[in-house]
Amino acid sequence: MRKKSLIIMSLVLIVGIVSAVLINRYIVSKKYYTEEYRPQFHFSPEKNWMNDPNGMVYYEGEYHLFYQHNPHGTEWGPMYWGHAISKDMIEWEHRPIALEPDELGTIFSGSAVVDWNDTSGFFDGGHGLVAIFTHNGEGQKQSIAYSKDKGRTWEKYEGNPVIPSDPDIRDFRDPKVLWHDKTEKWVMALAAGKKIMFYGSDNLIDWEFLSEFGEGAGAQGGVWECPDLFELPIDGDPNNTKWVLQVDIGDGAIAGGSGAQYFIGEFDGTSFVSDDNPEDINWLDYGADFYAAQSFSDIPSEDGRRIMIAWMNNWLYANRIPTEEWRGAASFPRVIELKTSKKGDIKVFQKPIKELDTITKTELFKIENQVVKASDIPNILEDVEADVFQLTAEIVMEEPVNFGFKVRKSEEEGEETVIGYSHSEQELFVKRTQSDDDYFSPYFNGRHTVSIEDENIIKIHILVDKSSIEVFAQNGEFVITDLIFPSGKSKGLEFYVENGEVLINSLEIKSLQSIWKKGMFSIF
Ligand code: FRU
Repeated sequence: MRKKSLIIMSLVLIVGIVSAVLINRYIVSKKYYTEEYRPQFHFSPEKNWMNDPNGMVYYEGEYHLFYQHNPHGTEWGPMYWGHAISKDMIEWEHRPIALEPDELGTIFSGSAVVDWNDTSGFFDGGHGLVAIFTHNGEGQKQSIAYSKDKGRTWEKYEGNPVIPSDPDIRDFRDPKVLWHDKTEKWVMALAAGKKIMFYGSDNLIDWEFLSEFGEGAGAQGGVWECPDLFELPIDGDPNNTKWVLQVDIGDGAIAGGSGAQYFIGEFDGTSFVSDDNPEDINWLDYGADFYAAQSFSDIPSEDGRRIMIAWMNNWLYANRIPTEEWRGAASFPRVIELKTSKKGDIKVFQKPIKELDTITKTELFKIENQVVKASDIPNILEDVEADVFQLTAEIVMEEPVNFGFKVRKSEEEGEETVIGYSHSEQELFVKRTQSDDDYFSPYFNGRHTVSIEDENIIKIHILVDKSSIEVFAQNGEFVITDLIFPSGKSKGLEFYVENGEVLINSLEIKSLQSIWKKGMFSIF
């Protein structure tokens, strides 16, 4: 009898504990990634500060995203490399910190590669990951670390730094390393003041200076940071390629503050020669919040895509954006391609990765072949409400007309973000002057534009995720990425036409699913 009641009591206890754990998980999961402004399908750290994406590399079925991270607070501070892994660049699994500060300094931005042939000797004849980063301490110097267990743990090279600091160059950082096939060596692009310096190596350890690029070229408003260098086919033709040198500038970019520019040219393994005139500037993105862009290394050639992620923020106000638990997010991954534009020049085109389709959920609105007039009341999107969605549209202007979309709108709150095309000014714009709930920086308000001339059809793909919008126009020839901070109540949409009418060839709005639902288990 005694034994029986003991068994019953134990069972009751076990059931009690299990249900308490499950209820707790449920409650925590309900709160996980649901804070105000929290991106739902973009990467952001669980807690604390993030800036640049670092060490982006694909290896053995996994995409690695490291990032500049201050685990001690929500402002920039001592830098570590945070880490996350994904199988599809959609759902990310948070991993422990990969690299932490040491006696040589804190860990600034850099890249990672797969050392397939064990050129470094770290992998006992096999292969593994090598990260190349800046140690920021007394001066800025370049160091390396390696991982023999698919990026789970990292060992810093005992002979660090591999490139010592240069007393004459204060800003000397952000090494991007790639394998250069033709010359069969590693090449490093390093930001140095307002230039890029190239280094070469056989083993990722011993580096020799090769050349430099940038004197007086492109935008020079601030120091150059976070370069990237890669070769791409033009219009998909593998026999006709060019090199793209992507360079970020800390200040003086197109929408104010920090931004990303690029040069197209030739790279022979030693030096980069730009096809552009020195005064030409090519912006990768015309919004205010696309910085420190980097592309994945080692994506298999069967896939063949060049995929980029940037920090969706701007140094003008990054430390003050009104988020609480965390600060900073990554842009949605984009495919970067070189194509001949309508005007005949070769340009970078960008589009969201196709994996986006896996989280495209409910259709919220769809029309085809409909004329919309300025006088039409109510607006066709009157009944749609959304704050995490994609919008695709093709709109024909049969006459000079200004039109656009308003998103994250609420009359009551007096908020809206406008994504419009102005025929009179021949430009696409994002206007976020009424997009913030909280006046946190004098630099935030603004209207960001890109000129699109002589077109009568505007094709647009917009991604909206709580506190960000990414606008890809004309098949990705023009891109605007901006943060927004509307109140949670502002979920309305509007399609407006000023003076005249447009023909909507197609317009579709679909909600997007959160990528963080499964994340609830990673916090236990
Ligand atoms: C770019 C940058 C890099 C540097 C890092 C420090 O945003 O300034 O040049 O390595 O951030 O966090």
